[in-house]
Amino acid sequence: MQRLIKKEDIPRTLWEPDHGRIHLAPDLIHAWKSLLNYSGLFEKAHLPVPKNLVGGVTKEDTDDHLAWRFSGSSARVQLGILDPRGNLSGISDAFARIFSGGTVLIADLPCGSGAALLTILSTIAELRREGRLPREPLYIKVVGGEISESARDYAEQAIGYIKDSLADQAIWVSAEFISWDVLNRFSTADLSTKLTLTGSDCTARLLILANFSGFLQADGKWKAAKQQFESLFMHCRNNESYAIWIEPPTNTVLASGGFFGRLIGWFNDRFSTLRTPEDPEPIKFESLGQCSAKVQHPLREEHQFDVGLVIQRFDLPKSGARA
Ligand SMILES: C[S@@+](CC[C@H](N)C(=O)[O-])C[C@H]1O[C@@H](n2cnc3c(N)ncnc32)[C@H](O)[C@@H]1O
Repeated sequence: MQRLIKKEDIPRTLWEPDHGRIHLAPDLIHAWKSLLNYSGLFEKAHLPVPKNLVGGVTKEDTDDHLAWRFSGSSARVQLGILDPRGNLSGISDAFARIFSGGTVLIADLPCGSGAALLTILSTIAELRREGRLPREPLYIKVVGGEISESARDYAEQAIGYIKDSLADQAIWVSAEFISWDVLNRFSTADLSTKLTLTGSDCTARLLILANFSGFLQADGKWKAAKQQFESLFMHCRNNESYAIWIEPPTNTVLASGGFFGRLIGWFNDRFSTLRTPEDPEPIKFESLGQCSAKVQHPLREEHQFDVGLVIQRFDLPKSGARA
């Protein structure tokens, strides 16, 4: 099937085909550099990434992620949106359709410092700037849920740095970042209410979940969290609405009994029994999208790094869904 943004039409400002190399979108680089200045982490971000970086929710963990992992998280999302090797079936078209115009809800969970949503906005803006997507008026309502207060603050700041540049491409953004604990039913109910209210006049919805497996794989967390995801996924039942989950291709994500196996098993169990013949087939583990590429480091001209991703689009049964 013909893709909406063909591989050969991806601008060289985002992807260099001869070197198989990602260049992060200009607005994203501006947002990241501004955040590094704001947080006093500019020097730290030039240092090599420590091998034993574990991650967590303290201010120090958030700062380490911003300095050392943010560009990798962003590159992973950009690779998913562009699918420059053409092996991530249906992902790039989902992004192109959702962001073609109108009023769109993005729920970024957990949003961290905003790497996923900033990458989506910056990449769509660059595709418009380079004439690969039409500049139809696009109103985006962002809801970021995140447990770390400092990460929420960074995400909010970062949107402010690129708002004007997005508006130049007819993309107008409003954003709210709310405290959310995936293990807490009440906190998830509050988030769910926020998504219902914010998304009520939206023509398309994207639930983006990125780089959360490290936390969810640890001691029994998935078991405690999965019922919360059930209510969150329900927000993607309408037409032009998807949940997209992106993780690094680590052993714990891909092994049999690993994170994606459990996620797909859970999804099929909870939602595929509700499908009608018009709805998509249950998801097969073998059809998971995988891709890798080089990334030009945005701060160190001489440095490039590798990024890989595993990605899955989840389409919920649409029978009875609103247009
Ligand atoms: C590896 S970061 C990924 C953030 C973002 N999605 C990205 O791709 O950059 C994982 C995030 O999960 C957040 N987190 C950890 N425990 C959480 C919980 N119980 N509820 C919600 N978020 C949590 C952390 O604060 C951190 O920002």
